[in-house]
Amino acid sequence: MTDLSSLSELSSPPFATRHIGPDDAGQTRMLEAVGFASVADLVAVAVPEAIRSSGRLGLPPAAGESEALAELRVLAGRNTVLTSMIGLGYHDTITPGVIRRNLLENPGWYTAYTPYQPEISQGRLEALINFQTVVSDLTALDVAGASLLDEATAAAEAMTLARRAGRSPSTVFVVDADALPQTKAVLRTRAEPLGIELVESDFTAELPECFGVLVQYPGASGRVRDFRAIADAAHARGAQVVAAADLLALTLLAAPGELGADIAVGSSQRFGVPLGFGGPHAAYMAVRDGLQRQLPGRLVGVSQDADRRPAYRLALQTREQHIRREKATSNICTAQVLLAVIAGMYAVYHGPEGLRRIGRRTHRHAVVLAEGLRQGGVEVVHDTFFDTVLARVPGRAAGVVAAARENGVNLRLVDADHVGVTCDEKTELLHLEQVLAAFEVSGTVLADLDAAAHDALPAALTRVSDYLTHPVFHSHRSETAMLRYLRRLQDKDIALDRSMIPLGSCTMKLNATTEMEPITWPEFAGLHPYAPEDQAAGYLELIGELERWLAEVTGYDAVSLQPNAGSQGEFAGLLAIRAYHTARGESGRDVCLIPSSAHGTNAASAVMAGMRVAVVACDDQGNVDLDDLVAKIDKHRERLAAIMVTYPSTHGVYEETIVRICELVHEAGGQVYVDGANLNALVGLARPGEFGADVSHLNLHKTFCIPHGGGGPGVGPVAVRAHLADYLPGHPLREGSAVGPVSAAPYGSAGILPISWAYIRMMGADGLKAATEQAILSANYLARRLSPHYPVLYTGRGGLVAHECIVDLRQITKETGVTVDDVAKRLVDYGFHAPTMSFPVAGTLMIEPTESEDLAELDRFCEAMIAIREEIAKVASGAYDRTDNPLRNAPHTADSLVADEWGHPYTRTEAAYPLPSVREGKYWSPVRRIDQAYGDRNLVCSCPPLAAYED
Ligand SMILES: Cc1ncc(COP(=O)(O)O)c(C=O)c1O
Repeated sequence: MTDLSSLSELSSPPFATRHIGPDDAGQTRMLEAVGFASVADLVAVAVPEAIRSSGRLGLPPAAGESEALAELRVLAGRNTVLTSMIGLGYHDTITPGVIRRNLLENPGWYTAYTPYQPEISQGRLEALINFQTVVSDLTALDVAGASLLDEATAAAEAMTLARRAGRSPSTVFVVDADALPQTKAVLRTRAEPLGIELVESDFTAELPECFGVLVQYPGASGRVRDFRAIADAAHARGAQVVAAADLLALTLLAAPGELGADIAVGSSQRFGVPLGFGGPHAAYMAVRDGLQRQLPGRLVGVSQDADRRPAYRLALQTREQHIRREKATSNICTAQVLLAVIAGMYAVYHGPEGLRRIGRRTHRHAVVLAEGLRQGGVEVVHDTFFDTVLARVPGRAAGVVAAARENGVNLRLVDADHVGVTCDEKTELLHLEQVLAAFEVSGTVLADLDAAAHDALPAALTRVSDYLTHPVFHSHRSETAMLRYLRRLQDKDIALDRSMIPLGSCTMKLNATTEMEPITWPEFAGLHPYAPEDQAAGYLELIGELERWLAEVTGYDAVSLQPNAGSQGEFAGLLAIRAYHTARGESGRDVCLIPSSAHGTNAASAVMAGMRVAVVACDDQGNVDLDDLVAKIDKHRERLAAIMVTYPSTHGVYEETIVRICELVHEAGGQVYVDGANLNALVGLARPGEFGADVSHLNLHKTFCIPHGGGGPGVGPVAVRAHLADYLPGHPLREGSAVGPVSAAPYGSAGILPISWAYIRMMGADGLKAATEQAILSANYLARRLSPHYPVLYTGRGGLVAHECIVDLRQITKETGVTVDDVAKRLVDYGFHAPTMSFPVAGTLMIEPTESEDLAELDRFCEAMIAIREEIAKVASGAYDRTDNPLRNAPHTADSLVADEWGHPYTRTEAAYPLPSVREGKYWSPVRRIDQAYGDRNLVCSCPPLAAYED
């Protein structure tokens, strides 16, 4: 470059060059290895002509990082963040700075994957067990899970759990009239396809026969009700009792488990998680002893490693079978791990006294407000409440709410005569003055009221039981201690900030800093989901744009961003299909065809949508067996609702026959659902809406850069062709739709949508296409490098794979006894997270490199896999003992290596530093291989006593 370089030559390289790992030279070397002259040539062979889009995506030209951030600043500026006192399950909260910066904004936490490989996940597993302990302590129930998607869906999960677990043959589920409106609406959506009858009750009349009852504690109106008598009546009918409870209220109120609840659900949002215009937030579920095997979602438990030291892992893993196809009881897969971790850390930081203080402070503000209103002549409806005051102002409610808004406060307009005011951790006396002024109450001295007013909690419901007695909730009160605790846990884990995570079907690509930055800006983080729309103008613009861009990318006509995980997108898509058939007078169409290779959530979602699952066989190549498909279509022709296919297939192959599959199903009157979890292999090259599908869900936490957060959050938008657009999910607090909501908040996990918006904005049409092409090239490069060492299962045209490849260990296992588990754990010694194990085929590893890994990292991974193959060869030849070898004993901890005794027939160096490159930045597994079965036999799902860690 000369000193005459033009300004355009000197501008920053496009973001795509930061997102895509390999540079031009790297790409050329990879192409040479794969045997193609150009990426275009590779794609021409790999991707079937029949599905290829001819045009370029109609997206705005790519913006630079600064430009995208500036645009996001403008959008953020169009949101107006008022003081939120709306309540309804969403409360403002203070995310302690040490948690915000070192956890929420820290890639060491947010880029981790679901802790299926427990040895490299001990940090987040400990954080989750803290969360479970918080929940089970506060609810006084025996076992709590590691998070669900939101309070409303958790309530729906509790409803179906109650039905499975109860003795009652009734189909009735009774819902508290004072339940949150979004909970009622989601329950309705979920109950209808399953033939569950919802009956709303204020519990003044006798309880009907039912299999379950949900009480809101405290109610949406603020009222605190002692539900012991309701629980007794329910139990007398063989029904289960579900309490939807507010965790902060439980710091002061008797716990649901003490009042007779069998199940408690709720949101942990107000434990330090920003409002985010509705999410993401972690819901919780806790159950009494006896129901733990029925819990949906993940459960962390304590087990032990090969040295009999305590170690965490997902408990009852066989129970992941809650998504076990047609026998599924729930479709929850991705949940809300990062948010559960934040909520748990909030409790660690504050401890029980701190939480109680925040609870009391919140309550006292409500008490002072109620007293001020009463003294000002305003009727306060309930005598007992925790944080919410319901005021009766006949005919004046809208005026009061409008006046409060003028004063900078959002209140809840309940109806023409009632206003709800909810206090939270951020409430100050100043806010109460603004609220009282809106009610036209003047002349009150709040400090005097504070001194005089009595608490409004029922005496019979005063909490007397202890909670959070474990030392972890007492040891990290200074910021230094908290900082180091977070760091210590983070250091135990492998996340993307350490090395590539080659998990097939998971698309662990870059989550760029620029994409992540906006999510903690107050203008995005601080908005209540039910804030008036004019206060959310920036959000609505961003959401509208993102919906349009995703429609363009997928070739569909309409998109809903409401589903907060892929599983919920599947459910929403199937509900749309169901509603469409019903609207055409074909409600008998209830059979959903699903190939045997499908992800478990597909069938689980179909069952939840009231469909019957018919499995279609796959051929030896892993493709849908067309003969079997034709036979199944013939068999179910009259009742065929849909087929659900993943494209490219879960085997990582572009099936040539997809267009024919769509035609066959359409000819029989069915709809085609394409699971878009693998869209990373299609963006810019092919569009499901164009090649024949009617509906898809996408996983923004895969293809569109939302980080996995250690197992959530996710966003699973549902995209449809025009004929299904009227059947996208609605919401009770927004305009009507033919189908009810699938999430608590109108726009689901809106708070993380800026990430995907920024990704698309910065990549533009060409960048997105280049990313897909690179993902295909990288997968084929890996397949080519590994195939001399491991058989690569399933390839498509030209022996090519799509964006991932499966290496087959079954023969190797047969010959040597070395299993996929051994290889996965040995990879830990080499510093890598294992690929996806035994999905979709048992005994295999599915590897997805993504476009973001550069050639050096891909080579490092290949070298590790090849070195492991050499170790396997030593087992085969007898050079290594068949049972006492580095593979079987992996991972090796520093502790085991520096022990005075080393009784293994291989060296410590071979164990720890199998390749010279491993020495630099060596990752040390904190535990040895974990015994899964031990933990299930001795189920412990809350913080173990410290004594458990003593030698
Ligand atoms: C093919 C496929 N479909 C659906 C899902 C479910 O998505 P989620 O985990 O977001 O619910 C996954 C998740 O990994 C998947 O791989």
